[in-house]
Amino acid sequence: MIPQPVSVVPAGGAFALGPSTPLEAPAELAGVASWLRSALRCPLAPGEGGVRLRVDPALGPEAYVLTCAPERLEITGGSPAGVFYGGQTLRQLLPPAALRRAGPTGWPVPAGTITDRPGFGWRGVLLDVARHFRPVAEVLRFIDLAAFHKLNVLHLHLTDDQGWRLEVPGWPRLTEVGAWRAESMLGARQHARFDGRPHGGFYTADDLREIVAYAAERHVRVVPEVDMPGHMQAAVAAYPTLGNGFAGGVRTSWGISPHVLNLGDEALDFCRAVLDHLCDLFPSELIGIGGDECPTGEWGGEDRQPAFTALMAGHLASRGRRVYGWDEILEGGAPRGAVVAAWRGAEPALVAARLGHEVVSCPDLAVYLDYRQSDDPGEPTPVGTRLTLADVYAFTPVPEGLPAERRELVLGGQANVWTEHLESARRVDYQTYPRLCAFAEAVWDTPGRSYESFEARLPGHLARLDALGVDYRPLTGPRPWDARPDAPGNPRDRADRLAELAAMTARLPRP
Ligand code: ACM
Repeated sequence: MIPQPVSVVPAGGAFALGPSTPLEAPAELAGVASWLRSALRCPLAPGEGGVRLRVDPALGPEAYVLTCAPERLEITGGSPAGVFYGGQTLRQLLPPAALRRAGPTGWPVPAGTITDRPGFGWRGVLLDVARHFRPVAEVLRFIDLAAFHKLNVLHLHLTDDQGWRLEVPGWPRLTEVGAWRAESMLGARQHARFDGRPHGGFYTADDLREIVAYAAERHVRVVPEVDMPGHMQAAVAAYPTLGNGFAGGVRTSWGISPHVLNLGDEALDFCRAVLDHLCDLFPSELIGIGGDECPTGEWGGEDRQPAFTALMAGHLASRGRRVYGWDEILEGGAPRGAVVAAWRGAEPALVAARLGHEVVSCPDLAVYLDYRQSDDPGEPTPVGTRLTLADVYAFTPVPEGLPAERRELVLGGQANVWTEHLESARRVDYQTYPRLCAFAEAVWDTPGRSYESFEARLPGHLARLDALGVDYRPLTGPRPWDARPDAPGNPRDRADRLAELAAMTARLPRP
C-alpha cells in the first residue's frame, strides 16, 4: 500500500465483499458511505453483518482502524476523514482491477487489522491552472487521485501573469481579456520560441463551487490563490488603470512580469473585491494571496508590498480568514496569523517558524514536480534541477535545525505542480506520477519509512495507477513519444540553484 500504514497485522481468511454486502453507518458518515459505494461500485444496502463504519473521537481526527475478519469488515475513524482514509486503504487491499470503472465488483478482502494515522496534517498539492487552464473534469480527476494517496489540501493557483482563471462579479474584463493569451512559449524562455496558438479558459462561480464540493466529499480542502501584488499582468492587461502605465496584453512568455499593481485606491478595492469573492466561494479559513516574486521597478524601487500585505490580511481577518502566502511575505514582516508556504529552501521555513508563523514546506529542490525527473535528454522540456523519485521520497517538511518547541508550527508539506510546460492532462500525469506517490508517503510520514520498502511496493501500486488510467512516467524513463524536441528545456545544476536561493533569501529577517 502507498502510503504505507503505520501498522498492518495480517490474520487468516478473508471477507467476501460483493454486491449483496450490507453496510451499517451512522448519519454523520452518510457522505463517506455514499463515496464508498461509488468507489467500490457496490450497492452496499443498509443492513447489519457486513461492512460497518464508525466514528470514535478517541482516535486522532484523521486516524483509523480497519479490522477485517471473514464475518465482518469494520472501519473506525476519529472523524469522517479518518473513516474515508480507511476506505481508501480498503481500495488498496483489493486487486487493481477493483479500481476500474467496469468489471467484477466482488472481491475477497484479506483479514487483518490496520491501525493508521498521518504524521502531518497538511498534505498538500498545488495545481497551477493559470499557466495552462485545466477543464473542471481534469481538476476533479486530479483531486480524486490526490485523495487516493490520502492528500488533503489542494492549493489552487488561479491567476498569474499568463492568465486569469476565475470570473469576479463586477470585473468582466478579467475573463474577457485576462483569461486568454495570444500564444504560449514552447519550452524554456531562454529559447524564445512561441507556438503561435491562442490559449485560454476560466472558471465560473458554479465551476468553483463544484470543485470545492467534490474535494470536500474526498476530505480535501481547496485553498484558492490569487497572486498579488505581482504576477498580475493578466489583470493589468484587462484593466490598465490597475497598473503603472502598462498597456499590453496577457503575458505570452514564461518568467516574471515586471508589470504589477499600482496599489492605488482602485487597485486596493479590486483586490478586496477578489478576496471577498474567494471568501464567498471557498470555505477554507486560509486564502492564498501569493506574494512571491514581486518586482518593485514600477514603484521606483520602493518596496510597498509589506504594507499592501498587511491591508489584505486585515481585510481577510474581517471575514474571519487568514493569509496563506509564499515566503516572500516574511520580508518586511508577515501579518500575524499568516501561514507561510516556504518554497525557497529550508531557510524561510526556519525563519517563519522562529517568528511564530505556521509553515507549509514546499522547497523547490525537493517537491517542485515540474522539475525534470532524470538527466535523460528525452525528458519532456527538462527544466529545473534533477528531482528523482528517490529525491522526492527523501523530503521531510521539518527543516533541519528547527528547535523542538517550534515543531508544531510545521503543518506539513506540499508538492507544487507548476504548468508552464504541462499543456495537457497527459503531461500533468507524467510530471506528477509516480513522484506524488513518494511525496504522499513522505507527508503521511509512516514511522520507519524507507525508500527500499517504497520501491518494493511501487510496482504493485503502478498496477493500481494503470487501472485508474494514470499516464505516469515509467520507471524505465521517458518513452520516445514523451520527448518534446519542439519545446526544449533548460536543465539546472543543483549547486547553481542553491547559490541562487541563498541570494534570493538574503532579505529574509534573521530572528
Ligand atoms: C514560486 O515558485 N514562485 C512560489
